[in-house]
Amino acid sequence: MKKILVLHGPNLNLLGTREPEIYGRTTLDDVNGMIAARAKKAGIEAEFLQSNHEGVLVDALQEAPKKGCAFVILNAAAFTHYSVAIRDAIAAIDVPVIEVHLSNIHQREEFRHHSVISPVVMGQIAGFGADSYMAALEVVIRRLSGAKA
Ligand code: DQA
Repeated sequence: MKKILVLHGPNLNLLGTREPEIYGRTTLDDVNGMIAARAKKAGIEAEFLQSNHEGVLVDALQEAPKKGCAFVILNAAAFTHYSVAIRDAIAAIDVPVIEVHLSNIHQREEFRHHSVISPVVMGQIAGFGADSYMAALEVVIRRLSGAKA
């Protein structure tokens, strides 16, 4: 069975109650549940990790190839905008990473417009709420089935 890793960064454990006008009312468990169900239907096993700690996310990225993960779906949250350590971890592994954001970071405060990880990921999906993750998963499913891009 193909395996993927879904990584959530800081404060995403508070989804559902955290600034719902920006991030919606869907909880992290809801998001993970939707991903797990769609992945299972496609014959893919999804592993999930949320952490508020940069080093834990770096460790998880380093572990992804060792665990045989075919893709990583990553919402690095605030680390997106300044974590060179997470950027370097993504660049160090040979597993494709898809960057996702619930909100459209380009429409928000200036400091959110820049992603330090964008240059080293496969692509970025932002602004669709929980559907940003689902859209990333559809890309993964298509790529793993050998569909042409
Ligand atoms: C976020 C956007 C980031 O700017 C913010 O720090 C987050 C969540 C998003 O999913 O929209 O925590 O990554």
